Amino acid sequence: MKPNIAFGDFSNLAGEHKSFSDSVRHGWEDDELLLVKSEEFGNLRDKISAYTYSLLRTIEFEACWLISCPNSDFKILLGEKIGFDAVCLEALHNRMFEKLASRYLPTVSAAYSKNFTKAVKFQDESDISSFLYSLTQDFCENIDDYLNQVDRVTDEPTYLTLKNIKSGLLVQLEKLNKYRRRYLPIETLDSRSQTKCFYSNSEEIPTVASFPGRGSQLLFSDTSIVMHKSYTDLMCDREKMQRFSHYVYMDVEIAAMEVCAKNIVAYREMPLDFKLDMARQIWDEARHAIIMRRLLENIGGKEADYTYSAKVWQKCEKGENVTERLAIQQVFQEGNALESNFLLTEAFKNVGEREMTKCMDFINADEAVHVKIGNFWIKYMLDGDPNRYQTVMEKAASLVKATLSSNVEVNRAARRISDFQIILWIYLRKIIMFMGIENLDGCSIYTVGCVAQNKPIINYQYCRVPSPK
Ligand SMILES: [Fe+2]
Ligand SMILES: [Fe+2]
Repeated sequence: MKPNIAFGDFSNLAGEHKSFSDSVRHGWEDDELLLVKSEEFGNLRDKISAYTYSLLRTIEFEACWLISCPNSDFKILLGEKIGFDAVCLEALHNRMFEKLASRYLPTVSAAYSKNFTKAVKFQDESDISSFLYSLTQDFCENIDDYLNQVDRVTDEPTYLTLKNIKSGLLVQLEKLNKYRRRYLPIETLDSRSQTKCFYSNSEEIPTVASFPGRGSQLLFSDTSIVMHKSYTDLMCDREKMQRFSHYVYMDVEIAAMEVCAKNIVAYREMPLDFKLDMARQIWDEARHAIIMRRLLENIGGKEADYTYSAKVWQKCEKGENVTERLAIQQVFQEGNALESNFLLTEAFKNVGEREMTKCMDFINADEAVHVKIGNFWIKYMLDGDPNRYQTVMEKAASLVKATLSSNVEVNRAARRISDFQIILWIYLRKIIMFMGIENLDGCSIYTVGCVAQNKPIINYQYCRVPSPK
């Protein structure tokens, strides 16, 4: 959540590389290239650049496959791997900016980039896992080479970063191995071709499915499977809990992974930090899916006992751009769910369900971050303009035919943590004149409460707006 053109906007840089001279061969700015005098240091930067290229393209491919693959287990595996890859990518990318670079183009040999060209058509989970296995194995071997020859005193931070990455990669290899049925030979990261390929956001990716894949045993229905009337009702009825956990597992958590995956591949021009945030959310939702399926199975249910709907996917598809999609999913739907999730956690606690109470605490914390991510990127896209924010939120509400708040009392702390700084501007303007104003750094901070139709919509928030002249 720190957009920075120098760090994230590869498309700008890629567009410019035609005007570079020597740096076209390396992916660096000319003057920054001159700062490096030793071959070893230059090689390390090239190596990290290649890793970054590989991880970026891998995440994009995994996002496409996550949407299309029908097998929920494989979908979850891809979701967890996207999260892990993003953690590696962020660590390496940050490391790069401690290596005398202000910006760079992730670069590999042309031969290595062809691995991805060949994999574009893969659809079958065995082919996909074989490809990802070979890439991961090659990545591990390449890291090993470096770890074996590096002088730890000069670059211990990179040494430790790569060592951590390698131990995570070994876990990924084990998981992928369960799905692959063959050895897929690939070009290695080390292939020393003179021709270089730069990441540009426009490389071919697998087809982005228009509707998410589901197993053939799962039947689609628009009718809700949920039957409980209250959380108290839910806690004392096994069948109702089975229905609810099936719904949250399939129609909420898995669906949330899919809409975030779509955001990564449909808006490739967004900064790297946006992709990292989406990847982080996908990883979270994958773990939430595992938790909810575990609950379902612990009480005697299983996947496909009930129908699935595609409401989350369909609602998001109504958004015409990334801002509207984020408003619909992260800020509006997940934002409203914050309140009910805390009540659900309380209900689990009240009936002595310690395991689920603990899991829900972790889920709630993740969800607050998702809402925060949505708020952050919407404000980024709208240059922080509160009027445009308000307009987008109102449009989001009308697109999915719902009201702007959940039908329970607003949870002030949760909303504050999730960065609801400026919302429901129309209501704010109505009451702002009699609220307390504190001047700070040329801005005013308003602490306000909103009431519309006798119902608290947002009863507490901080708004930072220019001071009245
Ligand atoms: Fe979730
Ligand atoms: Fe979420």
